[in-house]
Amino acid sequence: MKQTILITGGAGFIGSHLVRMLVEQYPDRHYVNLDLLTYAGNLANLRDIEDKPNYTFVKGDIVDADFLNGLFKQYNFDGVIHLAAESHVDRSIEDPTAFIKTNILGTMNLLNAARHNWESFEGKRFYHVSTDEVYGTLGETGLFREDTSYDPRSPYSASKASSDHLVRAFFHTYDMPIVISNCSNNYGPFQFPEKLLPLFINNIKHNKSLPVYGDGKYTRDWLWVGDHATAIDLIYEKGRVGETYNIGGNNEWKNIDLINDLCDVMDELLDREEGASKKLITYVKDRAGHDRRYAIDASKLMNELGWEPTVFAKEGLRKTAEWYLANEEWMENVTSGDYQKYYESMYAER
Ligand code: NAD
Ligand code: DAU
Repeated sequence: MKQTILITGGAGFIGSHLVRMLVEQYPDRHYVNLDLLTYAGNLANLRDIEDKPNYTFVKGDIVDADFLNGLFKQYNFDGVIHLAAESHVDRSIEDPTAFIKTNILGTMNLLNAARHNWESFEGKRFYHVSTDEVYGTLGETGLFREDTSYDPRSPYSASKASSDHLVRAFFHTYDMPIVISNCSNNYGPFQFPEKLLPLFINNIKHNKSLPVYGDGKYTRDWLWVGDHATAIDLIYEKGRVGETYNIGGNNEWKNIDLINDLCDVMDELLDREEGASKKLITYVKDRAGHDRRYAIDASKLMNELGWEPTVFAKEGLRKTAEWYLANEEWMENVTSGDYQKYYESMYAER
């Protein structure tokens, strides 16, 4: 193999799409997927590639610095693509502890492992995958650009902002060849049903209520997960060292409009009477500190590296709904165990 690349969090939603794409696209590179397999990590997301000769899975915790040092010594990585994180805003509001550990301490441990084990930085790359939530919230107009000031407002986004700062600090202080991307809301197959779309698809299927936070007029910029994976590939290969690239779908939706469209698609796919799913919509207590609007200016990535999103709006929504309905077993597996307890604790008091 010409190179060995460490991907962290590869058993999660975005990581599994990225790992599959890279393992297939670069058969002469070895990909090591390091994942703790928390509630959000699932090896079933990668069943179809698990026997590929250029793929290895390692179970482990990025918070464990000794373990990381051993792993770097064992594999002599040429590069790192770091996605492992606690990723759900609502959970961070319930208890930030795991977010601080994994997202901040874990990222620092990974940076340190690279710094201490890479004899030279020549030809190396440390890619940190981050979120647009570090920029805070927008009003009715405007877009997040790479030079927008950081203004994180949830424990999740504060932990990601902190990790971004650490990664940049390792560039300025130690000349580590880093690159960062900040992306908007992803959607598509294999997303854990705590996030809006898979949660609502599963609830509609089981005729459960659809808990819309606040007035439902919060706006997100939705990006097809496969388009995020192609952006990460491009930035890893061609992004300039020390730079940040924003990634977004130019695909803004107010939550309630997205939910109404989803309801229409689900009525059709489940062969239900028109309007049936919309009756499940229930307005509930708002998320604390809920960011009103996110929207991305991805022109740097598009102009510099030639990236283009390929899946838009209703097409992506339909593909997503179809996938979850066709993969009932996957959904049943991830909603067994502690999921019910999580759901009740999160939604009972709303
Ligand atoms: P996810 O929650 O689906 O997956 C996270 C993965 O990290 C899981 O497989 C989990 O087991 C693993 N993990 C958690 N703690 C770990 C630890 N201590 N050690 C090793 N592995 C650990 O998350 P996702 O939605 O796929 O997000 C991936 C990354 O992309 C995150 O860094 C997130 O902040 C970022 N991001 C997500 C979105 C989005 O819309 N989902 C948008 C922009 C950026
Ligand atoms: O913007 C990128 C971020 O997108 C990522 O960094 C996060 O990891 C990812 O989880 C996502 O964060 P959001 O908070 O935007 O995603 P979520 O799916 O939790 O919520 C989307 C919107 O829907 C948000 O305005 C809250 C609202 N919502 C969510 C849930 C779960 C509801 O109204 N009801 C719900 O039950």
